[in-house]
Parts: sequence; C-alpha cells; structure tokens
Amino acid sequence: MIILANALNDIPALVGSGFSGLRQGRYFLARIGDAALARRWLADVIRAGLVKGLADVRAMEGGDAPAPARTPLADKPGESVTLAISHAGLHALGLRDDPARPFPSAFRAGMADPIRRRLIGDDTRPLEPWEWGDAATGGAFVTHLLIAHYWADQGTPSTLLGAATLAEAGLETRIVESWPGAMRPDPQGRMAMYEPFGFQDGAGQPRLRGIATPSRAEPHSRQRPIRTSEDRNVHAGEFVLGHRNEYDEKSYAPSVVGWPAADAVPPHFGSNGSYLVAMQIQQYVDVFKRFIADAGVADLDAKMVGRQINARPMVDEPLRGADTDDFRYLASDAPGFECPRGAHIRRANPRDALAHTVEEGIQSLRLHRLLRRGRVYAETPSQGAVGDGLMFLALNADLDRQFEFVHRNWVMGARFGDLSDEQDPILGTREGRTFTLPGCPVGQRVGPLPRFTRMRGGGYFFLPGLSALRFIAGLADRA
Ligand code: HEM
Repeated sequence: MIILANALNDIPALVGSGFSGLRQGRYFLARIGDAALARRWLADVIRAGLVKGLADVRAMEGGDAPAPARTPLADKPGESVTLAISHAGLHALGLRDDPARPFPSAFRAGMADPIRRRLIGDDTRPLEPWEWGDAATGGAFVTHLLIAHYWADQGTPSTLLGAATLAEAGLETRIVESWPGAMRPDPQGRMAMYEPFGFQDGAGQPRLRGIATPSRAEPHSRQRPIRTSEDRNVHAGEFVLGHRNEYDEKSYAPSVVGWPAADAVPPHFGSNGSYLVAMQIQQYVDVFKRFIADAGVADLDAKMVGRQINARPMVDEPLRGADTDDFRYLASDAPGFECPRGAHIRRANPRDALAHTVEEGIQSLRLHRLLRRGRVYAETPSQGAVGDGLMFLALNADLDRQFEFVHRNWVMGARFGDLSDEQDPILGTREGRTFTLPGCPVGQRVGPLPRFTRMRGGGYFFLPGLSALRFIAGLADRA
C-alpha cells in the first residue's frame, strides 16, 4: 500500500523527520488568550510556509524513507514550525469534538490529569508537582499549544515566532530552549543527537510501511519476519491517523463540529494527523556520573541504557549488518548477559524478548512502537556543555495502546519480564529500587539506585494534518 500524494502533502513533516539538519531550536509552551487572534497568527505562520508537510521534507532531504530521526549532515538552510494542540487548546481555539467521532479519552483527559499520571505509572506519592501540563492540575502552566521551532545554524528565525508577535497574538508563552551542541556528526558523518548522560540517542526507530516508495516497500508485517532489518517495519497507521495499522484497519481519526461532510478529503479533522507525547525530563547528570563511578561495575552506564555510548547494541547479533538497529534478543541474549533484561532500551522496545518465538514477539511488539522526535534542552547556562535533560517527543496513533502501555507496563513496570521491584534504571522513581545484571553462574544486583531524572512537565498534543490546521485558521472567516 502506497500513500497517495495528497496525503503526503497533508501529513505533518515531523512524521518523516526530526529535522536534525536544523540544529537551532526552541519549544514554546503557549496559552491562548484570544481565539481569533491566535487563529490569525496561525494563518500567518501557514501562509509563510513555516509548517512543512511530509512531501516537503522528502524534497528537502532527498530521501524517501521517512522514519529515521537522523539525516545526512548537510547545511540545508531552512526553518520549520511544528504546531501541536492539547485538548484544552482545541477548545480555546473554538473547536468542539464531533459527538459522533470524539477524541479518545486519554487525549481528552490529558497526561497531566492526576488519574492519567497514575495510569502511566507515576508512583510518586503525593504526585510531584509539574511546572506545565496539558490539563489543569492546580498550579501548573496549562499548555494549549506546543510549538517546536527549528532553524539552520546560519539562518535567522522568523519574526512570526518573536516575542512581540506572539504577545500580539494573545499567546502567553514559556520557552524551553533546545541545546544545539547536542547535535553532532557521528563517526559516519551523519548528524546524531547525544543526550546529557553522553549516549547517542535516536537510533532505534520504526520504519513506516505504506509511506516508503515502491522500491522500498517491505513485505506485509503479518508475514514471518526473516531478516532482523524487517522487524522495525510498521504500518503507517500506527503513527498517522486514518491509515492502515497493524490490525489491518484504518486507525481511528476523530473529528470536530463543522468539519466538511464525510466525503471531504481528508475525510475527518483528525485524518493524516498524529498524537504527540511531550515530556520535559530533567536529567541529574552529576548524580548519574557519580553513581556510575562509585559502583565499580564495568560498563554499568551502557548496561543501564542497553547500548554503547555510540549506539552500538550490547547484543552480539550474528545476522546484523552495519545498522545499529538490527538485532534481536531471543536467540542472541535471552538471559540478558549482554544487554540486561531491565535495561532502558530492552524495556522501551523489548523486540522479540517477551514472547516464546521471534514471530510472536515481533508481531506483538509492532502494536507498541513509538516514533521518537525529542531533543536535548538546556535552560541553565551552567549545564550548557551537555544540556539539562530531554524534551522527549514521540508520535503514535493510539496513546493508550502505544505510549501509555509502554510507559506503564514496560518502562515503569516493577514486574517487567520476570524482574521484580525494578523499574527502568534511568527513568524509575521508586525509592530503594535495584538493577539486575544477569550473569553466569550468578548475576549481580546494583542498588539502591538514586533518582536520575525528574519530570518537569508533559502533555498529550494533537498534531494536525495541514488541512486541519488550515481549517482552524479559517474558522473566523467562515464564522
Ligand atoms: C531523560 C530521558 C531519556 C533518556 C536520557 C533516554 C535515552 C535513550 C538512549 C540513550 C537510547 C538508546 C539509543 C536509541 O536507541 O535511540 C534510548 C532508546 C529508546 N528510548 Fe529512551 N530515553 C529517555 C526517555 C525515554 C522515554 C520516556 C521513553 C518512552 C516511554 C523512551 C523510549 C525509548 C525507546 C522506544 C528507545 C529505542 C529502543 C530500541 O529501539 O531499542 N525513552 N533512550
């Protein structure tokens, strides 16, 4: 199945690219004061060509494979604005759910909602306050728009994103600066991102089937995966609403009151859009480095992450080519001697590790993939050398089945696999938690682990297709 050209123009560019060639960046967390002014500003941003579609990034990057966040290192001039809207934000812009096709409950409630936070495995008691969120929590900055603004090193950012213009548009904003120093060429000369603990990030990504060109088209995912390089092929509907997903169904696209009749192209307000999960996660770099140094365990930091510092897997996969994402666990390292069973990447993407056969493992895994697009942020100048933490951004079509499932059961799950009383070693919050290093004849338990990270804020945002954005911008005129 190949996605039609009109959809490629409509699908937001972030689906296809992390824009790593545009190293400069910042995130605006914005609250809408006046719907009409905000819509007019949105119309100006669209008219200026700042919001790109998938077709634009393909043309810009000269490639056809949309999945990798990394692109060849090149000084491509340009600028990009990604606009994502929380449910509160849709309301603030004057939109209402179509009662016949409402937004799903996870999105409507918002990630910052206290019940939702428990549902994704936040076990801090009482719940730690966040500085911002997508829903009212009593104190946090309620964020209507998450605006990701990226531009090239030698470029000048548009004044449409300047403080004066945003204020005129009635947008109250908080800015989270991204840290361009985190984007550096890897040994192959490709732009890569290095997170503050020092590891290359962004290697393990799904590849979207149905968006690749015919020459790249891969066999249907229900067929037995033969080569490890095919394990990551996932139907586009897992990330883009209204397209075929891993259940061989079109993923659910919600709509809003006033969207043109169902024979419109695209058929629903949500079609060609996606859900953007945002988490601003502060990293305690000093605590991490000190803990690793004091523990006296060889390669402990790499074992916690599950990859070498340069993203090479810990697992020695005989079938693997040069690709760092080309490996499985079941045949190569079932006990976790090389990549511990509770390591970050093994929890976040267990590949075939949780099933009895490779086929079962890969097929069920494809229901729980995330397309990561985050960047390192730096708010404190003293942390400028490495950054303060990660603005984790991930796309998925089903918040419940993808992000929430992964975060609750795998990342934060105390009983993930056959482990007990553990959590993700770098993201866990539970006091006294440990980390098991399986070994032969006996393994080792490291701990208690201090907290290495803290959530500063987060939310669920809808990333509209370009037609839906134009629809919002044009609401006032139609009224
Ligand atoms: C401060 C927070 C975080 C840091 C420092 C971090 C760091 C890393 C690193 C170094 C890798 C290995 C390189 C790679 O495969 O790309 C990785 C992989 C990954 N992370 Fe995180 N991460 C963080 C938060 C999260 C969160 C919150 C999630 C999801 C709930 C997540 C999901 C993943 C996934 C799915 C992979 C790919 C695993 C694979 O395909 O093998 N990460 N992360």
